[in-house]
Amino acid sequence: MGLVYPLPSIKTAKSAKEIQLEDLLGKTVLVIGGGGREHAIVDALSRSPQVSKIYCAPGNAGIEEQAINVPLKDTDVEGLKAFALENQVDLTVVGPEAALAVGIVDAFREAGLNIFGHTKAATAIESSKEFAKKLMAKYDIPTAAYQGFSDYDEALAYVSARPFPAVLKYDGLAAGKGVVIAQDLEEAKAALADMLLDHSFGQGRVVVEDFLTGPEFSFLCFVDGERVYPMPLSQDHKRAFDGDKGPNTGGMGAYTGLPFITPEDREFAYREIICKAASAMVAEGLPLSGVLYGGLMKTPQGIKVIEFNARFGDPETEVVLPLLQSDIYDIFEGVATGREVEEPVWADGVTLGVVLASKGYPGHYEKGVAINGMHRVGTKVYHMGTTYKDGQLVTNGGRVLMVIAAGENLTEARRKVYAEVEKIQCENLFYRTDIAHQAFD
Ligand code: AMP
Ligand code: GLY
Repeated sequence: MGLVYPLPSIKTAKSAKEIQLEDLLGKTVLVIGGGGREHAIVDALSRSPQVSKIYCAPGNAGIEEQAINVPLKDTDVEGLKAFALENQVDLTVVGPEAALAVGIVDAFREAGLNIFGHTKAATAIESSKEFAKKLMAKYDIPTAAYQGFSDYDEALAYVSARPFPAVLKYDGLAAGKGVVIAQDLEEAKAALADMLLDHSFGQGRVVVEDFLTGPEFSFLCFVDGERVYPMPLSQDHKRAFDGDKGPNTGGMGAYTGLPFITPEDREFAYREIICKAASAMVAEGLPLSGVLYGGLMKTPQGIKVIEFNARFGDPETEVVLPLLQSDIYDIFEGVATGREVEEPVWADGVTLGVVLASKGYPGHYEKGVAINGMHRVGTKVYHMGTTYKDGQLVTNGGRVLMVIAAGENLTEARRKVYAEVEKIQCENLFYRTDIAHQAFD
């Protein structure tokens, strides 16, 4: 018998069936969050051969090209849980700390849903500075000497007896304003009064710690109880302007391939900091099951912890995940269900990313400004704060876009990335021109 249908339509029919089959067999993932970090997670998931459908809540204009945006807030636990149940989501991946802090993981697990992220109790390693400091003291994890206080006079007496500068940290959520580096007693007094007498951030205690010096870097690891799967090291740029000047921001750029951290440093940080912290959390009955992010410093006395975070870093994730060659779904699912996974494989070479932020950020800034030229950019662009207005891509946040380039070395990646950044046209964006400067100094 000859062909009944002309070949092209058979082909079309077959591929439609294939797609249907893929839909049936492939995994459905829900990513929670809507920034550059979540765009990088969605991008990595879209490379997984197992994943056929990705939802992102709330997502953004860039994420929408690779996932279906769901208009739910990242802290709307009940709404997200109902969505996951209704849409047969196989796995949920949590980006922001706020979602972990309201107990999304606990609620999803109770409902029998797989979710990648720590329980509310385990998130204390990030949300409570004093919990983290006590943990480090108890398990001998290197960090700055400290003491915690709720009484203003006692805190002041301690600060007065220590060398300056002194580091004062409000123990609770303070919208990034909870850390003060006091240069002298006057500054310390003012900050302590603000935190412990006027309760400007709330009723939390204050941690006072010694000031450390040295380059800072970020060590992100997937952690499932005692199992630790490290990611490549990266470095953030917290200040708004070139030369590390200006106010602190959420991060203005990042890169991998830090030349000032030796393999021995990394091994030390892995064994003596991250693995020890993972074991310590198990011993405390609070096993981790997500990302542990060590904010570390290479001091003259060795590598020490500045802080722990209980989630992927932003903008570090945007430079780290593009290097992942393994199937990220397998890692997420393994960690979420307590199954051992194969050691993740990472590409050689380095990545460097530059954040384009709204003028005025981190202070007041305008939204809704047109962005053009995106189609001309030849490397990855993760959206941090964008939306569409009448079909036009516009700014919709403080940090708006992050352009990433890969290279064999940082010189190449830096040259490439800035050539691409210049192609983006928007009259209300600014960026740092010196990302990775510590690597070149
Ligand atoms: P944190 O919120 O704990 O990460 O602190 C914010 C920033 O303050 C860090 O990224 C450091 O640059 C700085 N910082 C915090 N603790 C110390 C410390 N003990 N010594 C020096 N700098 C610190
Ligand atoms: N890069 C800083 C943070 O994610 O907290």
